[in-house]
Amino acid sequence: MKVRIDPERCQGHGRCYTLAPEVFGEDEEGYGQVAGDGVVPSAGERAARLAVSNCPERAIDLIEEA
Ligand code: F3S
Repeated sequence: MKVRIDPERCQGHGRCYTLAPEVFGEDEEGYGQVAGDGVVPSAGERAARLAVSNCPERAIDLIEEA
């Protein structure tokens, strides 16, 4: 599983990095950033899904890999 944040949609609500700090971080202005290359470790999948469903701007895309 991979995640991606659309910088056009992200408004810096911060729920992603609060709910899934192992998957997301913040830039110096509080906008969300994907940690590393966006690959979600299996232990972080639940938190990543939670972040996706809690982003008010629907700015996080989740890419399921086979
Ligand atoms: Fe941005 Fe949504 Fe996170 S608006 S900071 S991607 S909760």
